[in-house]
Amino acid sequence: MILIQLTDLHVRPLGLAAMRICETNVLTERALRAVRDFRPRPDALLITGDLTNNGLIAEYQNLAEMLARLIDIPVYVIPGNHDDRANFRTALDHLPGVSTDPEFVQYTVEHLPVRLVMLDTMIPGQIDGELCPRRMAWLDRTLAEQPNKPTIIAMHHPSFACGVGSMDSILLRNPAGFEALVRRHRQVRRIICGHHHRTIIGNVAQAIAMTGPGAAQVVDFELFTDSPGMWVLEPSAFLVHVGLDDGSLVSHAVLVERYPGPYPSVPDRD
Ligand SMILES: [Fe+2]
Ligand SMILES: [Fe+2]
Repeated sequence: MILIQLTDLHVRPLGLAAMRICETNVLTERALRAVRDFRPRPDALLITGDLTNNGLIAEYQNLAEMLARLIDIPVYVIPGNHDDRANFRTALDHLPGVSTDPEFVQYTVEHLPVRLVMLDTMIPGQIDGELCPRRMAWLDRTLAEQPNKPTIIAMHHPSFACGVGSMDSILLRNPAGFEALVRRHRQVRRIICGHHHRTIIGNVAQAIAMTGPGAAQVVDFELFTDSPGMWVLEPSAFLVHVGLDDGSLVSHAVLVERYPGPYPSVPDRD
């Protein structure tokens, strides 16, 4: 099983950059081409929130056009804080699961060797996220349905701190409540998030928790400062979650851009 996770595309209307310098449309198209060309062919593409920068219908339409043109594997999406839930549903209604729940964009994917639980952590107008009582109850009930199947939870907002001030101020609210819930459901193996635009690995109870790198723009790495998150034009990347034959799950970070090589590993004769 191969799952590709792109996150934080921050797509803009055609022809416009994000925050004046981030050409997110070009970068998203390039990331989607990397997914299209990835071999072996992935089982699915997951996009973990902040699909657009301003939640505009024109932005979702631009993304929908790129997905339709470039991607022919199942695409599973969830919203982030930059999204607008109503416009998200309107423009991406054709994607599986998007309209399953009447209020939130939350659903499960059951046909893969690993069960996917796709969560909606957005609070309209807020940068941080939450699982309100209704969403917590849905998650608890949903995980209880399949206690023995290895499970990945996908959600935009991470709940674990990482030491970067600008990131640790915009996490999931009530991380202790979420951790206690995950601890009760031992089949949860991975929690895959977006939001930070960097690859960061931590844990939530027994599960490895990680944030995916920016598939478009990247946030600067500033440990133990309280400066606002700044953008840097570092190479963009994505995660490849692989289920191996022995039942284990591994995750690779892969750069979007291709570099010279590969070259054979040969001894130097001097
Ligand atoms: Fe983002
Ligand atoms: Fe975000």
